[in-house]
Amino acid sequence: MGKFYISTPIYYVNDEPHIGHAYSTVLADVLSRYHRLFGDEVFFSTGTDEHGLKVQEAAKKRKVEPLKHCNETVKRFISLWKKLDISYTKFIRTTEKRHRFVVQNLLTYLYERGDIYFDTYLGKYCIPEERFWTEKDLIDGKCPSCGREVISIEEKNYFFKLSKYRDWLVSYIKENPDFIRPSTRRNEILGFLKNGLNDLCISRPKSRLDWGIEIPFDKKYVTYVWFDALINYISNVGVYRDNDSFQKWWPADVHLVGKDIVTTHAVYWPIMLKSAGFELPRTIFAHGWWLVQESKMSKSVGNVVRPVDMIKKYGSSAFRYVLVRNMTLGSDANFSEEILVETVNSDLANDFGNLLSRLVNMVGRYFDGVLPGVTKPRKADSRLQDRAAALADTVKTSIKGMELNRAIEAVLAFVRQINKYIEDSAPWNIHKKGDTERLGTVLYTACEAFRIANVLFSPVMPGKAEEASRCFGEGIKKQIDHTNTDTSILQWGGLAPGTTLSIQGSLFPRIEKKKEINMEMAPDRGKNMERPVGIEQFQKLDIRVGRILSVEQIKKSKKLYKLNVDIGDEKRQIVAGIAEHYTDEDLIGKQIAVIINLKPAKIMGVESNGMILAASNDNKLTVIGTDREIAVGSRIS
Ligand code: MSP
Repeated sequence: MGKFYISTPIYYVNDEPHIGHAYSTVLADVLSRYHRLFGDEVFFSTGTDEHGLKVQEAAKKRKVEPLKHCNETVKRFISLWKKLDISYTKFIRTTEKRHRFVVQNLLTYLYERGDIYFDTYLGKYCIPEERFWTEKDLIDGKCPSCGREVISIEEKNYFFKLSKYRDWLVSYIKENPDFIRPSTRRNEILGFLKNGLNDLCISRPKSRLDWGIEIPFDKKYVTYVWFDALINYISNVGVYRDNDSFQKWWPADVHLVGKDIVTTHAVYWPIMLKSAGFELPRTIFAHGWWLVQESKMSKSVGNVVRPVDMIKKYGSSAFRYVLVRNMTLGSDANFSEEILVETVNSDLANDFGNLLSRLVNMVGRYFDGVLPGVTKPRKADSRLQDRAAALADTVKTSIKGMELNRAIEAVLAFVRQINKYIEDSAPWNIHKKGDTERLGTVLYTACEAFRIANVLFSPVMPGKAEEASRCFGEGIKKQIDHTNTDTSILQWGGLAPGTTLSIQGSLFPRIEKKKEINMEMAPDRGKNMERPVGIEQFQKLDIRVGRILSVEQIKKSKKLYKLNVDIGDEKRQIVAGIAEHYTDEDLIGKQIAVIINLKPAKIMGVESNGMILAASNDNKLTVIGTDREIAVGSRIS
């Protein structure tokens, strides 16, 4: 039996939990449950990030003390995790004494070893993001991350020597390809480290902000919230306090994070650990964002999806299923209730839930509800049995590779296979012929295959899997328990002939589309064109100066060129519909504007990774370029 330590980020308690929080946590839960199912002992860490300006200001707005505010908002997270069937091992709050002790211990250690020093700081500070930036980071004088105003600050502070470890970190990342995943994020971090690394300001004077952990060697300061927050990953498993537990669990196998917080996790955190003499986590895995109509959710736009509403309407299992099924780990995905309803109706109501009712009903009709046994299995029966055995391995491999949606697709494909087996075997005809032995064999085989599919779906939908397993009696129900690490439940033959089967109602009733989808919750539909675009939305587009290196006409298309474009750090293949407007000679060497963070697409079977900008008028196209030479890769904003 192996061990597996997985963490979610710890969430800010300035507001109620949203779909992003729900997603990270569900993902960690599903992975934890799969690991337990495959026999691992799991530590699943989550919690709340309670210090810093954001929380202090949220408390101020509500006219309550920060700690009181935290005590109240943390309840919303804990209650949501309960509703979402989250099986975390230990919840950590950064305001807990045990955490403060660890942070202060670590700070003292780093200070004494000379990796923390006192200096004057001159910089630009973004209040909402709580981050300092250098002049050259700013975009149009504004915060490069959120686009809001920054203020100039000059003050004495404590600094952590990140710069000292830059070269070490670069080599470490290069030598350990699984340290930052997916590789796009790894390349981003390597790109970020290319231009040097500044030391990190890790204190805030209490005169400006006092909601934080006091710096143990200078009472006039508190700790920068990110420095405090990252330490949760070691403090929750007992560093400095419970050596056995720490030795057992650290290093973590996976820190799951959103793609917006990779730098803190993949640059600050490993250096903090290295300086403190601890091992590094094995993998930092960055997932993408849930968008609504391709845009970021935001309160002001009114398109925020509230997990509590989704659970109330569709239940925890359906919501969890859609979250993990519809996002390829690492990429962004669109959330809409229409998609949710379609997914639930097709995968869960039609394929999975229906199968269960059919099976239990047939056993009821033909065998008075008592599960028959197998006699003389045929090829079709053993084929299904072999597929069940292979399925557990496929799911295991996908989970190891963090390809969750693959795992789910594999189970779903198996469910469809069972449906096909039933159609092909046609038990109703066997019944007419009066061949009870054959009928029993077919129904047992299908029920057992369903049991295995259900066990393999249970990490994704623990609630519904338990409900389904109840149809097969108490013993089978016990299998769907997240503390169960008995892998024999994955083996063929778990159902005992002679068991009485029963079902109450349908597992996933079909959802009536129109009735359920409340348009107020999807206000984006159709209105996009009228709504002006905010700077944050615009800044999501990464537009760069590129240079066309080669041009090739795409076969069978008059309009399309396949371009090879240099965008600074890499070369991109881009398909562009400009073949009727430019010769290859016109284009080669030209500097142009390229959107580089567009989702890759296949156009006439050719992969296109980015888009060049062009203006059109009267069917004439003009490619947008620069009016003088500038370094390739420069950002256009
Ligand atoms: N407190 C820090 C994390 C400290 S970890 C040492 C923080 N908290 S957060 O509450 O703002 O965000 C937590 C997580 O939610 C991040 O991983 C972020 O990427 C994720 N999401 C926020 N909105 C999201 C979506 N719309 N979709 C998916 N995840 C997104 O950052």
